[in-house]
Amino acid sequence: MARLENIRIDEGGVSCTIIDQTRLPRELVHRTLSTPEEFFDAIATLAVRGAPCIGKTAAFAMSCFARQAALEGCSLEETRDRLYDQADYLQSSRPTAVNLAYELDCAREICGQPAQDAWQLAQHLCDYAHHIEDNEEIIYGSIARFGLSLLNPGATILTHCNAGPLGCGWPGTALGPAILGAAEGKPIKVYADETRPLLQGARLTTFELSQAGVDVTLICDNMVAAVMAQGKIDAVMVGADRIAANGDTANKIGTFGVAVLANHFDVPFYVLAPKSTIDIACATGEDIPIEERSGDEIKTMWYEQPMAPEEVRCYNPAFDVTDAKLISAIITEDGVAYPPFEDSLRKVVCS
Ligand code: MRU
Repeated sequence: MARLENIRIDEGGVSCTIIDQTRLPRELVHRTLSTPEEFFDAIATLAVRGAPCIGKTAAFAMSCFARQAALEGCSLEETRDRLYDQADYLQSSRPTAVNLAYELDCAREICGQPAQDAWQLAQHLCDYAHHIEDNEEIIYGSIARFGLSLLNPGATILTHCNAGPLGCGWPGTALGPAILGAAEGKPIKVYADETRPLLQGARLTTFELSQAGVDVTLICDNMVAAVMAQGKIDAVMVGADRIAANGDTANKIGTFGVAVLANHFDVPFYVLAPKSTIDIACATGEDIPIEERSGDEIKTMWYEQPMAPEEVRCYNPAFDVTDAKLISAIITEDGVAYPPFEDSLRKVVCS
């Protein structure tokens, strides 16, 4: 199967081409981003989405902005000032996924390092962008391998939202074990929640898994209890947007409910994410900022006519926090971390 590149830096280094994830699965549309406003809009509207992909987009954007400044003849100091402002601006596009802040902090650190001129600074940021790209398959391949080792041959997992190659890198985090299993002749079946309101499960997870030859079944979010009660699910695998020091995990809204149900039915609940998703500065899930989005995503977005009275109030948090005590293990590129997560995650972050 041809691999889709979620984002790449164009020749010349001043713009990026993304796959517009809002248009999938009906059409494969590429978009070019070059201005800070275009990058901000692509992140805020979920044209690029998924925690690791948002971070990567920000890092690629910083590389483009630095080269633009060098081409305009900016001095090193002017370039640095501009880049710090642009980093702050991009960081305000979405609050929950720590990967955005993480990659922008790395870019700020690179900006602060010695450089001869704007060109050299641009080269350092470009090298860092390529470093992310070059390491992706090593990181996600390793997460997938550790995840697959937790599943019995022929197992069926349930997943929520989309944590596949489009939102991460090949073969994804939560979808990695199933995609790797299909590639190696050890098939894993997947139930995919549709994931209201933006339907990342229906639109993206089923698309990516079908393309990879994985046996996938789509269900509505409110069917999870029934499907688990029927004994169809051996394990839950989800991604993460931010993992607190105690293991509390923010992921797409609805994940917490799935974890409660998994606990009720004695189904193991696994979180799969790169180490950069662990935010030791957040002691617990209470410290994680939760993005709230427009009620139009619930009322009107997918319908020809509004599906609720126009004046009705909506509450649309994009993420929830799963209590660490509901999580069986957290899988990173370094291996499988078990409770108590205060200890096991600290070891992962310090390694
Ligand atoms: O709002 P989104 O689509 O960016 O949310 C994505 C998720 O919640 C994913 O599960 C998470 O980022 C894990 S890895 C892609």
